[in-house]
Amino acid sequence: MPASDPHAVPTLAQQLTDAVGAAIAAAYPEQAGADPLIRPSDHADLQANAALALAKRVGANPREVATTVSEAIPGGSAVGHVEISGPGFLNLTLADEALWAQAEARRADPRLGVASSQAGVRTVIDYSGPNIAKEMHVGHIRSTVIGDCLVRVLTFLGSDVLKQNHLGDWGTQFGMLIQYITENPDQPWRHDEIDSVSHQPSTVSALDTLYREARKQFDADPAFADRSRQRVVALQAGDAQTLAVWREIVAESQFYFDRVYDRLGIQLSARDSRGESSYNDLLDDVATELTESGIAVTSDGALVVLSEEVTGPDGQPAALMVRKRDGGYGYDTTDLATLRYRITELGADRILYLVDSRQALHFRLLFEAARRAGWLTDDVQAVHVSFGSILGPDGKPFKTRSGETVRLMDLLDQAVAAAQTVVAEGAEAKGTALDQDTLQRIAEQAGIGAVKYADLSGSRVKDYVFDTERMTAFNGNTGVYLQYAHTRLTSILRRAAERGLHVPERAPALDGAALEPAERALILTADSLTDVLDAVADDLEPHRLAGFCYDLARAFTDFYEACPVLASPDPVRQRRLALVDLTRRTLAQGLELLGIAAPERM
Ligand code: ARG
Repeated sequence: MPASDPHAVPTLAQQLTDAVGAAIAAAYPEQAGADPLIRPSDHADLQANAALALAKRVGANPREVATTVSEAIPGGSAVGHVEISGPGFLNLTLADEALWAQAEARRADPRLGVASSQAGVRTVIDYSGPNIAKEMHVGHIRSTVIGDCLVRVLTFLGSDVLKQNHLGDWGTQFGMLIQYITENPDQPWRHDEIDSVSHQPSTVSALDTLYREARKQFDADPAFADRSRQRVVALQAGDAQTLAVWREIVAESQFYFDRVYDRLGIQLSARDSRGESSYNDLLDDVATELTESGIAVTSDGALVVLSEEVTGPDGQPAALMVRKRDGGYGYDTTDLATLRYRITELGADRILYLVDSRQALHFRLLFEAARRAGWLTDDVQAVHVSFGSILGPDGKPFKTRSGETVRLMDLLDQAVAAAQTVVAEGAEAKGTALDQDTLQRIAEQAGIGAVKYADLSGSRVKDYVFDTERMTAFNGNTGVYLQYAHTRLTSILRRAAERGLHVPERAPALDGAALEPAERALILTADSLTDVLDAVADDLEPHRLAGFCYDLARAFTDFYEACPVLASPDPVRQRRLALVDLTRRTLAQGLELLGIAAPERM
């Protein structure tokens, strides 16, 4: 953490690390710098596990070492009380005053005291990557949603984040499509036509249908096949009329992707699109460079990079295809050019690829080649941030009944419909009437939030089942549960305001009063946001942040049951209002970083 960061409020865990670290240095000067190993504890607020390893190194009994260290903990630290347990654990109970001061310090800062730990790091992040003239499908959800969460977290932590939407916008298949479109000008596919006259759900669905028609004609009609082949040549040669149609296909596809991003609340726009085609001019040069350095070799008339690390099932080295026998370039070459560009032109310190785990070999070979070419050095980190698949109710990769891939938008509609039922039932049970508009708005927030939370709350590499009923439940580890917790927090503050009670800018000091266990747990949980975000930045696992929000919502539920807020006398009421404020802001911040709406009412 930069020492100059004016927002940084060290976490209680960090403060205990410092205090116990100082005690170790004082008691055993030659062991100074040893990690106190502060961990969560079942018996106290936190515990220090260092004494066991320390005992071995100084040749003493662990309980004795623990006692010596505990006696050396500097006065005035956050530690209120120490107990030695088991073979030599230090059970650490925080001082009430320290906990309370911490809550107030976080509350006083607009960033909740979170340090900008990623300042100075330039991150390039490649995510979403849909293919033009094709529907976005269930496979694109994860890249888009996980990528968006990482963008939010890393940006919040001060990284300079460059978003790159690596659209699949190039390939010989577009020759056929362009030819068909040109010969059938009456077929609707542009968004103004789609929205008014067509039964197609989107521009990309219409284009996909036209592509299938083109394919049929290509197979049945040799003259059309010939014209299509010429069209590919014209496209690659940069023929103006052909390029104009291609550009329109890209723009109309982007128009639809923007709708999806907008509905999902994804921070991607056309400005972030840098499709495969934008690297075309670099491909010859990449092939030349790799040939001259001896990394790419000719094999069967094609130019390939043979891996020195990975062999295929046939015992032969796995290969990247740099140039096909027909002279054409493909996905591998584009990714080589892209990686070189991101390092040399964009100046990335860290490059993240949000792509499903089935492409693991591709990225392994890509990074190996880039290291051998000298582009990827130890100063740059390239990571394939891989993830598993979304499964259907039958536990198999999600497909429609007719065996087709599921449209992403249809999936969102399903989740919103399920959320609408749940929200309407909830309102009825509480006796609050929601008008149709409000119900729809809340259902949209809840349904989209549910989809995102289901995607973000598990470990990335695991597959998960898309089950709208489970995802939208009010109880359990769901997005809806978190959103509902947020509405309960806002409702306390609203009811307080109605009575003329406002959240104090500075809450009254404790003055010797003790905090309730539920208050302590709530403060301790809220305090860990900084550490959680740093861990997400480190291992790129958003489920840590999801888990934090869930723990916070549960700690709040416990607090709310045990500690009356509005019904307590001052100054307790004032302090509890301050805690509600801290919790609401922390939960809202967590939800925002997950990319999930934090509604005021549900
Ligand atoms: N367009 C690809 C797909 O739909 C994803 C692109 C991933 N990014 C990359 N640099 N290869 O699967």
